[in-house]
Parts: sequence; structure tokens; C-alpha cells
Amino acid sequence: MENKRGQWTSSFGFILASIGSAIGMGNLWGFPYKMGANGGFPFLIIYMIMVIACGVVVMGVEMTIGRHTGKSPILALSQLSKKFKIIGIFGVMCSFLITGFYSVLIGYSIRYAFGFAKQIFGVQGFEGLGGADFFGAYTSDVLSVFIFTVICYVVCWIIVSGGISNGIEKFSKVCTPALFVILIAIIIYNLTLPGAKQGLAFMFSASGMEIAGTKFNFFNAVRTAGGQMLFSLSLGMGCMITYGSYLGKEENISTSAWLIPAIDTLAALLAGLAIFPAVFAMGQAPNAGPGLLFITMHNTFTSMGYVGNFVGFLFYLLVIFAGVTSAISLIEVSTASMVDGATAKGKNPNRRKITFFVCLGMLIISTLVCFDQLGKYTGWLPFAESSRSFLDLLDFIAEGVLMPLGSVMMCILVGWVLKKDWLSNEITLNGNKFYTKNFFTFFVKYVTPVLMTFVLISLVLSFFGL
Ligand code: PHE
Repeated sequence: MENKRGQWTSSFGFILASIGSAIGMGNLWGFPYKMGANGGFPFLIIYMIMVIACGVVVMGVEMTIGRHTGKSPILALSQLSKKFKIIGIFGVMCSFLITGFYSVLIGYSIRYAFGFAKQIFGVQGFEGLGGADFFGAYTSDVLSVFIFTVICYVVCWIIVSGGISNGIEKFSKVCTPALFVILIAIIIYNLTLPGAKQGLAFMFSASGMEIAGTKFNFFNAVRTAGGQMLFSLSLGMGCMITYGSYLGKEENISTSAWLIPAIDTLAALLAGLAIFPAVFAMGQAPNAGPGLLFITMHNTFTSMGYVGNFVGFLFYLLVIFAGVTSAISLIEVSTASMVDGATAKGKNPNRRKITFFVCLGMLIISTLVCFDQLGKYTGWLPFAESSRSFLDLLDFIAEGVLMPLGSVMMCILVGWVLKKDWLSNEITLNGNKFYTKNFFTFFVKYVTPVLMTFVLISLVLSFFGL
């Protein structure tokens, strides 16, 4: 039976929802390009070390905090130690900042899926314009961008107000597997294209740096991998605390903490295979961020001829599925915090209403993102490398500051503030085995917080071009 807060109906449902949260834009537009531009294999190795040394540990820590307290981040952290309440508040802020730009991007994807769907039936889907021209015209049409963003929020609102088992779990059980099916179908098609090999070379070998015009720099690779890893695994902002709070005591947290990062990393590699072979086969130049997903990929599908409409439609459907399963987890962080907050005050919260107001608040941030048109008003920002848009600023505050800070603090809480056996006591409840216990207890104290502090400091420096 589901209790009043809600609970996952099965371990499988929880895993699929968590994988759905992890796999998103981060995997699609972030990882493959960063890997190519930072040396290929060496970057992959550094990324995997970051995933194991920090991702797995913080994932385990967050799930354990969530399940132990049965509460969303603010209440969960303040229950463990009053001083750490602020980290929960930062988490909720982070969910607003990320959803603020994330939903706009999902909105773009809905527009593009719609465009290719129309073209399947022989109707112009992009006003006859090429990738860059259409993207420019579309992003400066603030009203259309806004409308598609609202569509994204309505979909998320319906899912999240359905609750944990009836909303998020049900949706993830369909969309997460579907996402893999589409991903693999696109990869199979791409690898048959002549010239696809170059795409593999971009991602996996040093030639990626030549093409991207970058040089391998160890520290740069470490901080890029660190930030990317936190964003991609939805860590440091309480998302996994929230999902963990709906876990039953029979779940083995130590298994999930290894499994979810492993599948997310696999998905990031598969995303690269779904993108770069096609990009090179169609004679396009690789790119990062929204430019990759919307300009480069649009041109790539157009160059494929009629069949490109099908591949393009499927690709944007994939982006939508990946995006929505992540967005609902972001919205759930804030929704759960308000639901729990109201319950703690003795009120009887209405989840549907709360989700509505959370989405409305986030939509205000999204509206600013729409108005900024990817950098119209933000040229004064000090970013060295990225495109100096309001979107990049939000992304930086989340991925570059709040998420690493949250991860460091949660490790300090579990490794140094709470009792020595706190982690293993919770994980071994119900007779569960704590796999790799020595690894977790050592890393949470001595390794993860140190590495994450390094990532935090160097990402902040990178903001100022250092
Ligand atoms: N992990 C998601 C992605 O890779 C983004 C996300 C971040 C989702 C934080 C939830 C929480 O796109």
C-alpha cells in the first residue's frame, strides 16, 4: 500500500525513474562533445574515475539520507543536522534554476519533433530554412518559444501531480526503456552511413581536439568531467534524496548506487554514437550545447534527404523523453519539499495545487530565458568559453557552484558529522548487504569531498576565464 507521501511500487520502478532522471540533456549535448574536445579516451578515463570516486559515493549518500529520513532535502538535512538545512534550500533553488532553462530546451525539442513530423507528410516544417537560420528565427520568436515551453510544463505538471507511483514511476517505466530503443535504432542507422567512422574518431581519439581546436589540459579535463558528472547523475542538489525518500527498507542502496551511474555513463557514450557519426557523415562540424542539438543536428537530418525526417523526428522524440524524465525529477524536488513542509505544519497538502505553483514559479525563470534569446542581453557575462547567455549563467550557478558545494557538504555530513556507522546502519537494514562498504566509508570521508572541493574551486575560477 502506498503511504500518504507515496512510495515506489517496485525496485525496478525506482531504478527506471532514477535512470530517467540521470539521462537527459547532459548526456546528449554535454558529454559527447566534451569528451571529443578534451582528448577522447583520456577524458573518458578521467570521467569514469570521477563517476566512481565521487558519483557513486554521493549517489549512495543521497539515497541513504532520503530513505533514512523519509523526507525531501530541506527537512531531511535539517533533521540530521540543523546547520545543513541550507544545503537543502540550495537544492530547491537549484531545481528552480535548472528547470528554468531545461524546460525551454525541451520546448525547442517539441518544436523540432513537430517540424520533422510535418515534413514526413510533405509539409514544410522549418519554413524552408537551414539549421542556423531557422534556429535564429525561432529563438528570436519569443512567443513561440514561450508557448512550447508552457507545453513542456503542462506535461510535467500532469505527471508530477499524479504522485510517485501513479505519475513519475508509471511514466518512467514507459519512457526510460523507450529512450534506449530509440537510441539504439538511431545508432544502427548512423553506423551504416558512409563517413560515420570519422565521428567515432572525433569522440574517441586525439583528432577530436584538432577538430575542436582545443588542447589537452589535465586540470581542465578534471573540472569539466567533475561538473559534467554531477549534472549528468542529478547529484548535489537533493534529487536523489527526494527519490530515495520514497524507497522501501528492502531496497539495496549499495547496488543502486553503482548501477545507476554505470547505466548513465553507458547512455552518454551511446548518445555520442547517435550524434557524431551522423554529423560527420553528413559533412557537418561538431558543436556543443544547444547549437549541437538544434543547428548541427537539424542540418544533419536535412542532409539525409527524406529519410532524415524520420530519423530527425525520432531523435527529437528521444530528446523529449530524456528531458521530461529529468524535468519531472527536478520539479519533484521542490514539490516534495512543499508537500512535506505543509504536512509538518499540520496541513493537508494538495499535491496537484502545489505542483502547479512550483511549475508557475519555474516558468517565470523560463520566461527570462526565452526573452534572453540565448544571449541577447547577457554579453557582459565574464564566461571565457561558453556562449554568455542567461541559460549559461543558470547552468553555471547550478553545475559550477551549487551542485559541487552540495556534494561536498553532504559528504562532510555523512563522513564527519554523523556517527561512524550511520551509513552502514541504514544501508544494511532489513538484512541487506552493504557491497563495497570499505570503499564507501573511506571515500566519503577522505577522497570525495577533497576532489569535489577541487572541482568547485576550479569551476568557479573557470567562470572568470581562469
Ligand atoms: N541529469 C540530468 C541530465 O543529465 C539533469 C538533472 C540535473 C536532472 C539535476 C535532475 C537533477 O540532463
